[in-house]
Amino acid sequence: MPAVRPSAAAYRHVMGLRVVRCFRPDPIPPEEMEAVLEAGRWTGSSKNRQGWAFVVVDDREGLERLSTAGSFTGPVLASVATVVLVRLPGGNDFDIGRAAQNMMLAAAARGLGSCPITLHHRERAQEVLAVPEDHEATWAIALGYPDEEAEVEQRRRAAAAGFTGRRPLAEMVHRGRFGNAGA
Ligand SMILES: Cc1cc2nc3c(=O)[nH]c(=O)nc-3n(C[C@H](O)[C@H](O)[C@H](O)COP(=O)(O)O)c2cc1C
Repeated sequence: MPAVRPSAAAYRHVMGLRVVRCFRPDPIPPEEMEAVLEAGRWTGSSKNRQGWAFVVVDDREGLERLSTAGSFTGPVLASVATVVLVRLPGGNDFDIGRAAQNMMLAAAARGLGSCPITLHHRERAQEVLAVPEDHEATWAIALGYPDEEAEVEQRRRAAAAGFTGRRPLAEMVHRGRFGNAGA
């Protein structure tokens, strides 16, 4: 088999990223967690504002409390650690999304699984995390080493519920102006 060019490997890495919702209880070594957080830190942002803070919740009681701040937080309970992305005043959601994706890709590169989490209940999230009023804690990333066996069943259920695959490119690409056939 020919050697994979680095660019091809990186592309495959991006294309292969899928959420993981079932985790083994193995702890995440501190240097691995730091590598994930570094990937978030080095994310480019609008005007280089870096308008985020990362709250790492990695104790059982903290994870249980955090899970009450969203409606679909099973992965938080299953996780070994969940990183909450806090938007600082002046920060924006595009930047938060980029930081989240960078952390998820870095996690995957180091054998960790991850799942984005929505914290639907704003006030509860702020109370649990002691986040100031003018900050927003809406998204988090659940992390841990994948429990591959449990994941098979989880993915089967997600596929049955339609949470899988992607719309074809031709449906989402437009040329020049919206409505013109694209790809
Ligand atoms: C902004 C955002 C919020 C999400 N919130 C949740 C959530 O609260 N709970 C959950 O289990 N999955 C959540 N997900 C995961 C999505 O369901 C998942 O990305 C989607 O089903 C595609 O999964 P796949 O990449 O494995 O195909 C979220 C994803 C994104 C991008």
